[in-house]
Amino acid sequence: MIATENLTRKFEGLTAVDGLSFHVDRGEVFGLLGPNGAGKTTTIRMICCLIGKTSGKATVGGFSIDDPDGTMSIRKLIGLVPDNVGLYEFYSAYKNLMYFGRLYETPESRITSNIEFLMKKLDLWNRKDDPVSTYSKGMKQKVAIARALVHDPEILVMDEPTANLDPEAARTIRDTILDLKKEGRTILLNTHNLDEAQRLSDTIGILKTKLLAVGKPQNLEHAIYGRSTVIQLESAGDKVVQAVRDMNPRKFTVEGNAITLELEVPEKETPLIVSAIVAAGGKIKSVNETTGSLEDVYLKLVRGE
Ligand SMILES: Nc1ncnc2c1ncn2[C@@H]1O[C@H](COP(=O)(O)OP(=O)(O)O)[C@@H](O)[C@H]1O
Ligand SMILES: [Mg+2]
Repeated sequence: MIATENLTRKFEGLTAVDGLSFHVDRGEVFGLLGPNGAGKTTTIRMICCLIGKTSGKATVGGFSIDDPDGTMSIRKLIGLVPDNVGLYEFYSAYKNLMYFGRLYETPESRITSNIEFLMKKLDLWNRKDDPVSTYSKGMKQKVAIARALVHDPEILVMDEPTANLDPEAARTIRDTILDLKKEGRTILLNTHNLDEAQRLSDTIGILKTKLLAVGKPQNLEHAIYGRSTVIQLESAGDKVVQAVRDMNPRKFTVEGNAITLELEVPEKETPLIVSAIVAAGGKIKSVNETTGSLEDVYLKLVRGE
């Protein structure tokens, strides 16, 4: 649904986004994770045709961001939850949503049914006629999400939707995003929150001006840290250690009564090594697979360690 190729944006002397290539499939939640100033907002502004690019390519739903006729189609395909909510504070939430629905030229009956559906779903219906200025931050964010969805877009783009929310409000927004994910929506989500990226995204791209890594959260951990198997024994005696050595693992270390192994294919090798240990008279207390956490991966990449 979204594809970029070497997408680049410069501001005077500064390169905000450098050679970005990624794609978001239909029904996928893609988390663009990066620290402040990483170029996340600039990226989605280009994709939503709000600012131009300096070079490279991007398409949304098959339309190029360079094609003046495509721009309008792209805007209709996307529902954007921007980094600043930007609602009309003195109007009711309902009026705000009506206004934006009409802006997209959505049929009136569709707008009203969507508004009712979304406001009920987001638990805003009983406050629908109150001015937005009387809403909490979390409620305003929910209105912004409803506004992004009022014209039935195929793609939802969210710029740090839980930033500056208290933990409870952030949780509600994340649950909402998970619901939208279950509905099979295509979502591009900007965040600097690791936990959020991990919990919500099918694929994560780690951005710091350049895309440093991209993959499924778990694969990113494996790719950068490898995986190791830790076998905890009652006693890691010489016979047991020799049995492990005889299996020729890529690497192994013994610490106390724990043996840590680096294996090429843990699914295949671990059971064989466990059998060899048992055959050598070893008593196993536990077998676990470990890897670096996404946090480790992220910090390693972002700090350039
Ligand atoms: N309109 C602009 N003019 C000049 N510099 C900008 C502009 N917008 C963003 N930048 C710069 O581009 C970089 C990336 O910003 P941004 O995309 O907002 O990052 P993020 O959303 O990841 O925090 C920053 O260094 C920022 O200062
Ligand atoms: Mg931003």
